[in-house]
Amino acid sequence: MTYNLLKGKKGIIFGALDNKSIAWKIASRAHEEGAVFTLSNTPVALRFGEISQLSEQCNAEVIPADATSVKDLEYVFNRSMEIMGGKVDFVLHSIGMSMNVRKQRDYDDLDYDYFLKTIDISALSFHKMLQVAKKLDAISEWGSVLALSYIAAQRTLVGYNDMADAKAILESIARSFGYIYGREKHIRINTISQSPTRTTAGNGIKGIDGLLDFTERMSPLGNATADECADFSIVLFSDLSKKVTMQNIFHDGGFSSMAMSQKAMTQYNKCLEENEENL
Ligand SMILES: NC(=O)c1ccc[n+]([C@@H]2O[C@H](COP(=O)([O-])OP(=O)(O)OC[C@H]3O[C@@H](n4cnc5c(N)ncnc54)[C@H](O)[C@@H]3O)[C@@H](O)[C@H]2O)c1
Repeated sequence: MTYNLLKGKKGIIFGALDNKSIAWKIASRAHEEGAVFTLSNTPVALRFGEISQLSEQCNAEVIPADATSVKDLEYVFNRSMEIMGGKVDFVLHSIGMSMNVRKQRDYDDLDYDYFLKTIDISALSFHKMLQVAKKLDAISEWGSVLALSYIAAQRTLVGYNDMADAKAILESIARSFGYIYGREKHIRINTISQSPTRTTAGNGIKGIDGLLDFTERMSPLGNATADECADFSIVLFSDLSKKVTMQNIFHDGGFSSMAMSQKAMTQYNKCLEENEENL
């Protein structure tokens, strides 16, 4: 079902790698809802990912950029305004990476060079994006900027590692910059805290299978899928959410408000019984 919610809107979507990426789903939905936009990802992701397929499907030009480079980001915003003939209305930051997670370094044995890279890629890139956009005056009044977060920013979850710290900074940047950009340009900045989702980044989380099962059992509405995240993102890019800013909004089927559910308790008790039998 389409509603033309983004008809006439222009945007930039960072972070679509393959058809499992949350950014990919958001780009597809934005296209269906009438938006025009450019896509951006790293040169490596462009080589190994499938973004050319999405580019064709959405008639969207792909602009290579490392989101940690201010110079690259300036190019993305300038080129996007050139292609689309003016300022953009929405920006999606759907970027995350941790070498400590990739190399399976535990949180009490972190490599600090990797840690700095995690923060730079997964959090500071959001600030850089916003600062570049503001200096270039690249976002229209009442525009909307969105980044993707995870509940580990606020509650400790086994295995999420230094990405938890990066997400905490990301959510804070949305508030700090949201105040300035809102006050001066009526531009809103929010983060969506999404359920665990099977993507390239998601599969990197230690114990993802167990985690997905646990969050599914704990959430009264079940885990939120990437497609559902795309639907919600469209609302946040649309004029239907004009006064929502500086928020971290949980899109997780209710997981974040739960402590124990019937379904999780049943499973836990089953494990306890099995363990007793094995004693
Ligand atoms: N999958 C999940 O379980 C989950 C849950 C909550 C939040 N998120 C967040 O959603 C966002 C998108 O992740 P995803 O799950 O779609 O996985 P994904 O692997 O498809 O997307 C991550 C993207 O980050 C890009 N990236 C990495 N380094 C970059 C850099 N230096 N410059 C520019 N881009 C760079 C990658 O190329 C990739 O496109 C991330 O912020 C992630 O933390 C994911």
